[in-house]
Amino acid sequence: MKGKGGCCGKYIARRCCKLYTERVMSFPATRLRRLRTSAAMRSLVRETHLEPSALIYPLFICEGEGIRREIGSMPGVFNLSIDEAVKEAEQCAGLGLGGLLLFGLPDEKDEQGTGAYIDDGIVQRALRAIKANSATRELLLIGDVCLCEYTSHGHCGIIEQHEGQYEVANDPTLELLGKTAASQALAGADIIAPSDMMDGRIEAIRSALDAVGKHHTPVMSYASKFASAFYGPFREAADSTPQFGDRRSYQMDSANRREAMREIAEDIEEGADMILMKPAMPYLDIVREARDRFDLPMGAYQVSGEYSMLQAAFAKGWLEKDRAMLESLLGMRRAGSDFIVTYFAKEAAPLL
Ligand code: PBG
Repeated sequence: MKGKGGCCGKYIARRCCKLYTERVMSFPATRLRRLRTSAAMRSLVRETHLEPSALIYPLFICEGEGIRREIGSMPGVFNLSIDEAVKEAEQCAGLGLGGLLLFGLPDEKDEQGTGAYIDDGIVQRALRAIKANSATRELLLIGDVCLCEYTSHGHCGIIEQHEGQYEVANDPTLELLGKTAASQALAGADIIAPSDMMDGRIEAIRSALDAVGKHHTPVMSYASKFASAFYGPFREAADSTPQFGDRRSYQMDSANRREAMREIAEDIEEGADMILMKPAMPYLDIVREARDRFDLPMGAYQVSGEYSMLQAAFAKGWLEKDRAMLESLLGMRRAGSDFIVTYFAKEAAPLL
């Protein structure tokens, strides 16, 4: 029978037996610095590792040809036309990255977000073009499923008016998300990643995928997505700022950890194969708790604002670039994420 602290349970004069004291030896017998004396020693006992294959790089695809337009608030990240995206994908495959997460910037938007689910939508065409290139066969292509880049009002669902109040309508949006997922899978997406935060979307997407024979296409749900100020630069990159109101009626309140666990549990029940949590750095407690509770693969999304704030500090010389970048990513792995979506993927990979 073991004692409370994991000891043998024998007590002598109300003190634990020697066996126990040996196990929890303290200074001066124990000196934790012994295992930090050299790079080789530190490497031997390192608990957490980063690999390029666990990094996912987001791409923002726009119409046109030969376009590489840098995003003002995200130095080093570009809006890319499909031909340029194909080249970028080749570079990413060469670096051994795990995958690409595709976002689309359509030329035309409407109330229903039609561009998200038409057969020749911008992401669908990009998926086909990248899939056709044998040089990038190793990369997983992940389709972000959401309507906000495609709707004229910039919300993640369709808008209904009830007694003079605008509402992002949950249930009518589900069908459109399902259509978007199915058309992306048919165009070549290896993984479908819904980021809209409508209730019931995983079930709707799973059945839409199955209905077109895509039983083997996994769903990576942004199960825990908070209404965050850290998405600011993304909205410039993807031109998806809501034209009125904000996203607080569908994305989660930053204060809520228990609610995040409910969101994740619900998505798993609906059939999510993997989950994503975002933002990452200000929400590492969520990642850790999710890791402790659930056994499916999970990732963290180091969002645009996290990238921009670090880049701003690098530009000012206030933080050491490579070290701070890798430390931010390692923290996400240590908190329990198996993979990381990050705008640093291309810069980080060669350092690993
Ligand atoms: C689309 C979506 C957003 C992000 C990923 N998918 C923006 C948002 O919800 O406003 C943010 C990613 C980032 O900031 O890097 N709904």
